Amino acid sequence: MTPDLLEEGARRREALPKTTLGGQTESGGRQAGFSRLATPGEVDVTHGRILYLEDVNVSFDGFKAINNLSLDIAPGELRCIIGPNGAGKTTMMDIITGKTRPDSGTVFFGSTIDLLRYKESEIAQLGIGRKFQKPTVFEELTVFENLELALKTNKAVSSSLFFRLDSTQSDRLADVLHTIHLADSVSRQAGNLSHGQKQWLEIGMLLMQDPKLLLLDEPVAGMTDQETERTAELFLSLKGKHSLMVVEHDMSFINTISDIVTVLCDGSVLAQGTLAQVQADERVIEVYLGR
Ligand SMILES: Nc1ncnc2c1ncn2[C@@H]1O[C@H](COP(=O)(O)OP(=O)(O)OP(=O)(O)O)[C@@H](O)[C@H]1O
Ligand SMILES: [Mg+2]
Repeated sequence: MTPDLLEEGARRREALPKTTLGGQTESGGRQAGFSRLATPGEVDVTHGRILYLEDVNVSFDGFKAINNLSLDIAPGELRCIIGPNGAGKTTMMDIITGKTRPDSGTVFFGSTIDLLRYKESEIAQLGIGRKFQKPTVFEELTVFENLELALKTNKAVSSSLFFRLDSTQSDRLADVLHTIHLADSVSRQAGNLSHGQKQWLEIGMLLMQDPKLLLLDEPVAGMTDQETERTAELFLSLKGKHSLMVVEHDMSFINTISDIVTVLCDGSVLAQGTLAQVQADERVIEVYLGR
């Protein structure tokens, strides 16, 4: 979830009556204090990369969590990232999204946007959506209201004082509901959804903002086998329309969705290739798969 969305959701939660909200949706006014869109317009991917990291380093109290990390992702690609606990996978996402500042290195979104110049909220506005491991939907709100809220906090579209969904946005919401398999649960309170459905709803909230790049940290952790399978279908359907970076430990899930797999270890890339290639790599077996 984006930092702005968390803020807006907290405001909404405060405004909620003690009893549960009814089926009505609530569209309030735009809040003051929103930062402006950092760089409007398209991301320049003429050089064939939507994300580019070079020689990135981060230390925490002298411990090198990210160590000369270099990696790039093509537009529309679904890149899987695997690696042992503590390899730096989440820290890498923290750096891309502006949550953590690297000590040195280059992080570009397309060939012209230097992400290190932007704040976390601005990076979300630039079109990088992030899904943390734990679902963070607004439990008191319905599925519809959660999705509507996600659209409302996108400042690129909610420029009027009183926000109402126009027909394009309603169509988009319907599309997203279908994509995340929640079309039949539109009026259900998010708190009553299963763990997997909450994860899909949060992905749907990100999709409402039409991110160019989606970062997903352990999206199928805690899901049933059936939910995991549906999530694989969902991700495959997003590929091409969005670029995705997916961190997972679930190898059968990775096997279903992956083209290129990057193995991180000790803060840098240990190996990269198809899952079969990296699974056959002795170094990968030693540090990760052979455990
Ligand atoms: N804010 C922080 N302060 C201190 N150390 C940190 C911080 N964030 C991460 N680390 C350390 O950096 C290393 C990398 O952590 P990270 O969470 O990125 O690993 P990961 O690859 O996501 O692991 P996992 O698979 O367990 O989620 C770990 O040793 C972790 O303890
Ligand atoms: Mg992690």
